[in-house]
Amino acid sequence: MKNGVLEHYKEYLPVTPDTPMFTIGEGNTPLIRAANLEKDIGCKELYLKFEGCNPTGSFKDRGMVVAIAKAIEEGSKAVICASTGNTSASAAAYAAYCNLSAIIIVPQGNIALGKLAQAIVYKAKIIALDGNFDQALNMVRSITEKHPVTLVNSLNPNRIEGQKTAAFEIVDVLGDAPDYLFIPVGNAGNITAYWKGFKEYHEAGKAGHRPIMMGFQAEGAAPIVLGHPVEKPETVATAIRIGNPASWEKAVAARDESDGIIDIVTDDEILSAQKLMASKCGIFAEPASAASLAGLIKMSAQGKDFSSKKIVCVVTGHGLKDTDIVLKSSEPFLELPADLAAIEKGIGLV
Ligand code: F0G
Repeated sequence: MKNGVLEHYKEYLPVTPDTPMFTIGEGNTPLIRAANLEKDIGCKELYLKFEGCNPTGSFKDRGMVVAIAKAIEEGSKAVICASTGNTSASAAAYAAYCNLSAIIIVPQGNIALGKLAQAIVYKAKIIALDGNFDQALNMVRSITEKHPVTLVNSLNPNRIEGQKTAAFEIVDVLGDAPDYLFIPVGNAGNITAYWKGFKEYHEAGKAGHRPIMMGFQAEGAAPIVLGHPVEKPETVATAIRIGNPASWEKAVAARDESDGIIDIVTDDEILSAQKLMASKCGIFAEPASAASLAGLIKMSAQGKDFSSKKIVCVVTGHGLKDTDIVLKSSEPFLELPADLAAIEKGIGLV
């Protein structure tokens, strides 16, 4: 792959001669065969698109490089976003690289500490809002209507443009689209972006078909599934703790045009998928990112037949961002003195 998303996929992106071309290493993330899970789940081939390998540890970097490049092209000096943590980390990093200032509004107490640390170290201006993500997004919308600051949430179409490149990469590696794409849904930008990418590659003749889109929301934050906004969304998967997604209609269109579904997974299902992915595939995903695999496991347990199907689960963000829940649920480990005999005994070697 050529250097970065902007350069590699420029013919599919809103790149002009005036667009600054740069990268901090986004894109070209691994599509990992999850051979250990295929038999249990009962599918022919299962792949995990590990977006945690992006420079700030989430898929947001693909969209952010395009959004920031276009902001610079348009003469902007500052960007702003509301975030459950990953968008803000990404905005702050790309703004830092490009000498822009980044303002981020995050729901106080409901963002994983790793993500907060990222915003701090990249020197964003941080507002911890006494409110949730949906309220933060409303604030950001009002601010960008009044002030010359560029909005870099996924309402900014350049974000969707960049994020669709993940669909391109999947097709470039597999040679065609998978039969199914499983994906977590929060503010619903990513499912919108993947569907756009698969459709464009299909129209360009790069893929013979389009996948069925399978979106999953957390049980306590499932407005699209319920059909109405959720005023007080709650889930352990703080990244998708969203009650009124900005790209609601586009997500529903992706679902319907692809003959797919948007369904619910519980927090328990999310956490057990997270553990399974780590213990069987060596991939540490943050909780929200495991909603895709949790959805697949749920569908297969309900008797859906995937035995002849090629499936991709999108793993949206890295587990190192949010270690709290894993540490809290850990079994106690042996604490021993630096004594060989004691350690041999502890390991069970003698
Ligand atoms: N997975 C992770 C790790 C996320 O951070 C997000 C969204 C999603 C899934 C859902 O993607 O919103 O496009 O449907 N995080 C946003 C943020 C809201 O502020 O970082 P979506």
